[in-house]
This record gives sequence, structure tokens and C-alpha cells, in this order.
Amino acid sequence: MSGDSLNGFRQDALLKTGGSVLEIGFGTGLNLPHYPDKVQQIDAVDVNPGMSHLARKRIEKSEISVTNYILSGENLPMEDSSYDCVACTFTLCSIADVTKALFEINRVLKPGGIFVFLEHGLSDAPKIQVWQHRLNPLQNIIGDGCHLNRDMDQLVRGAAFEMKSLKRFQLPLLPRFIGHCYQGIAAKV
Ligand SMILES: C[S@@+](CC[C@H](N)C(=O)[O-])C[C@H]1O[C@@H](n2cnc3c(N)ncnc32)[C@H](O)[C@@H]1O
Repeated sequence: MSGDSLNGFRQDALLKTGGSVLEIGFGTGLNLPHYPDKVQQIDAVDVNPGMSHLARKRIEKSEISVTNYILSGENLPMEDSSYDCVACTFTLCSIADVTKALFEINRVLKPGGIFVFLEHGLSDAPKIQVWQHRLNPLQNIIGDGCHLNRDMDQLVRGAAFEMKSLKRFQLPLLPRFIGHCYQGIAAKV
């Protein structure tokens, strides 16, 4: 999920971010160049300790100031109602207790705050779903806990969000069992 072919999708997904922003699953900071100009500071959470060389370079190059937290998305220490916006890309697939993390995201959002996401997950084509369920255990091992078959729509709605917009599409250059994407904006209710 690191190729340049995803840049446009990242930019589109992050278009509505603004105010105080928290990113969950910051990784190597691939989203940084794609935030709109109005975003000047973000808090970033990732469970993996130690910021990679790539992330450091991206932060140095960026106009956005980044405060990093090595934390699990399932247990955020932030106060209730702290952020206007939480962003997450290609991460909900990997979080072990994704429902817990989504309720945490909801908790730290201000009332009316938005959760902006771009994630791969369960296809809407039954034949592809069969392969996603079949290959999921293997993907868990080779993809460091990544799941192929999470229904991001149901998961987000199930964590007390109201879905404001949702697009589902196939990413180019990827097999259908891994490239089915959900891009959405959900509001805390
Ligand atoms: C596939 S990478 C995506 C990185 C980045 N968001 C992107 O779009 O390129 C998934 C990221 O989620 C992080 N992650 C996995 N489980 C997590 C958790 N429980 N809490 C926070 N971050 C987590 C991983 O360390 C990794 O950086």
C-alpha cells in the first residue's frame, strides 16, 4: 500500500481533514504530503516502537508538525472529545482488536467530529469473499496481522458512528482479494 499509484486516493481521502487531527497507524508517514494545507499539526499514533528513517525524513520535509506517540490504537490515553478529526489509512486491517480501537477513536473525537478512513477489506463480490476468507490466515502471517476480510462499513457503523459518505472501489494494480477499498467519512453521533 506504499506505491505512488495510491497518492491520489490518499489525497482524496484526507481532503476533509482539518482542525485538531489524530492519525492512527502513522507508519512511515506516507499520508503527510497528502493532508490539505489547512492541517498544520497532527498527533500520530503507531504501535510499532521507533520511528523509521523514512518517517523521520518525511516529517523533516513536511510543513506539518507531528507529535508522535508509540501507542496501541485500542488504548488511547487522550481525553474524551479531544480531536476534530481522526484519520486512518490501511491500518484497520491490522489492528488486533479493531472494534475496541474504533470505539476509542469515537471517544477521543469531539461531538460532531469526523473519522476519515481509507482501508482495504471485504469485497462486495461473493466469489472474491470466498477467496478472502480462505487466504486470510495466510495473510495474517505474511502481512503482520493484516486481515483481508474485514467489513469496514459494518465495523465503523458498529462503533457508534454515522456514515456520512462511503465509496467502495477496486484499487488499480492489485488483485481483487486485496484491493477492495472503503473510503469514508463517519461522524461521531
Ligand atoms: C499497512 S501499515 C499502514 C501505514 C500508513 N497508515 C499508510 O497508509 O501507509 C499499518 C500500520 O498500522 C500500525 N498498527 C498495527 N496495529 C496497530 C495498533 N493496534 N495501533 C496502532 N497502530 C497499529 C502498524 O504498525 C503500521 O504502521
